[in-house]
Amino acid sequence: MVYHLGLTDESIEEAQFALLPGDPGRVAKLARAMDSESMEIGNHREFKTYLCKVFGDSVLVTSTGIGGPSTAIAVEELALLGVHTFIRVGTTGAIQDNIEPGDVILTTAAVRLDGTSCNYAPLAYPAVSDPEVLFALQEAAKRQDVMAFLGITASTDSFYPGQERSGTHSGYVLNSLKGSLDEWKKLNVLNFEMESAALFTVCSALGLRAGCVSGVAVNRAFSERVKPEYLELAEERVVRVAVDSIKSLLKKWHWKE
Ligand code: URA
Repeated sequence: MVYHLGLTDESIEEAQFALLPGDPGRVAKLARAMDSESMEIGNHREFKTYLCKVFGDSVLVTSTGIGGPSTAIAVEELALLGVHTFIRVGTTGAIQDNIEPGDVILTTAAVRLDGTSCNYAPLAYPAVSDPEVLFALQEAAKRQDVMAFLGITASTDSFYPGQERSGTHSGYVLNSLKGSLDEWKKLNVLNFEMESAALFTVCSALGLRAGCVSGVAVNRAFSERVKPEYLELAEERVVRVAVDSIKSLLKKWHWKE
């Protein structure tokens, strides 16, 4: 049994594909959206896992919790059990003016502002999406009629100062982080989130495939606060795109066999 996820070879029934929401509360929603048989097979700490059957294949939905450390644990342990393709299904704060709540962002590459990825590869190593997974996400967004933006994500290790939020207990943002949102914006970075740098670096370093789709819950160019109605809209759309993409990746996998 793998240490944190509490899963075994037997329990995952040869699954090779996994959807990775951060929030354990989103696992059942994703499993339901798969429109197939599903059951909970693990629930430890932040890591909840459902096993779903899609076209007779096993697909996992495993929550990673927030941030790089727990995401890397989930990927390591799922890879030990034979999973090779991962899609992160998250939420995000956009920083470009033209991106609206409810749009989705498909991360092509991540700025490595985290710590975890540095345990897997030096900073010069790129954090990039797998092209086939990225393409599947783009096609899925078109089929689902969801506005999708492809580009670079700044992947931070803190939600508050790391994303230059000042609505905090102290209200203080380190001098080294003041102006960082504006700088990433000028460098054409699309958004902030907290897992893609670790996910992409770990997967590339270990020879696994990863993609990342994030629903926009807030536009940081205009607001710091995530409104519940925008979060709900972002979740509904990101779930549809992720489920559609994993189904198309599964079909392609079978053509190749
Ligand atoms: N997730 C983040 O990391 N930042 C946001 O602003 C929203 C979701």
